[in-house]
Amino acid sequence: MSQNSPRPRVWVSRPLFDDIIDRLREYCDVDAETEDHTWTSSQIAEKLRDKQGAILGVSDPLDAGAIAHAPSLRAVANTGVGFNNLDLKALTSAGIVATNTPDVLNEAVADFGWTLMLAAARRVGEGERYLREGKWLGVSYHLMLGAEVHRRTLGIYGMGRIGQAIARRAFGFDMSVIYHNRSRADAAIERECRAAYVSRDELLRRSDFLILVLPLTPETHHAIGAAELAQMKRTSILVNIARGGIVDDAALIVALREKRIAGAGLDVFENEPKFNPEFTTLDNVVLTPHIASAATDTRRAMTSLAVDNLIAALGFGPQAGRPPNVVNPDALQARKNLSTTKTNNPDE
Ligand code: 8YV
Repeated sequence: MSQNSPRPRVWVSRPLFDDIIDRLREYCDVDAETEDHTWTSSQIAEKLRDKQGAILGVSDPLDAGAIAHAPSLRAVANTGVGFNNLDLKALTSAGIVATNTPDVLNEAVADFGWTLMLAAARRVGEGERYLREGKWLGVSYHLMLGAEVHRRTLGIYGMGRIGQAIARRAFGFDMSVIYHNRSRADAAIERECRAAYVSRDELLRRSDFLILVLPLTPETHHAIGAAELAQMKRTSILVNIARGGIVDDAALIVALREKRIAGAGLDVFENEPKFNPEFTTLDNVVLTPHIASAATDTRRAMTSLAVDNLIAALGFGPQAGRPPNVVNPDALQARKNLSTTKTNNPDE
């Protein structure tokens, strides 16, 4: 921090909720964007050059280059549960604390997973387009026949808290729930969610609906590609509410066009927001613009949690120094070491 301004400077990368961001203004000088942008890494580097903190969206890239150009940056609060936009290794070694917003969005995202599942099964997007285009000339017994949902098998790939919330909703549809996860869930969770652990191959082969709720990491990149799609039932429906990049979109487009699977519901894409335009030529896919957590109370709770995290990470408020949702705890120690160096050199 400069000697003239003891208040940390913070950048908020997109419009959030002003009344919640005002809490940040009690402790910090806030530069909050008033319009949405798709930020490039070099634009973010420029914005963060003189900042101590930032609230970022999950698609705002913060890479090693930008981090190197932000010598006074101490904390970054992501407004989402995912944090694949952050170079955690570079943040940690620079002693910059990163946080996310888990839990507060579980139920809204689970609701949306079901929205896409039902919409894809019952051809809601296609039906609406048909109507709007004035093509509906009368009731036909065979019009828009879709897939049954109740009593089918729901496969959940990624049994974290969102996966569990999705599983609980399946009770009402009398579905069999199977799941695959990097590590098997506790027996109590399996019981509570009435979900059976299966191998990845079995999940692919048996699911009538396969919903993806796993994080994007180097290991999960293209976890669903041509080979995996080939293992799925021809009648199955794939739903991705997790991250673009987990699915190989080009392979999915081929599978949908050739009806190797029946349909898909996608909220996330490779290369957002410039997703593969081929998707729009297919009727058997429901497309939404990364809105799974976009319910008002949820988005307010996410903003509020990001603000709490940033205030605490910058050393203020009731949780000063103990932000609730740190994703790189080693940064706290690295920061202590670095701040000792900085105290010894007050010109920095
Ligand atoms: C976004 C998400 O945060 O939580 C995540 O990881 O992807 C979403 O909830 C939200 O869409 C705002 O960008």
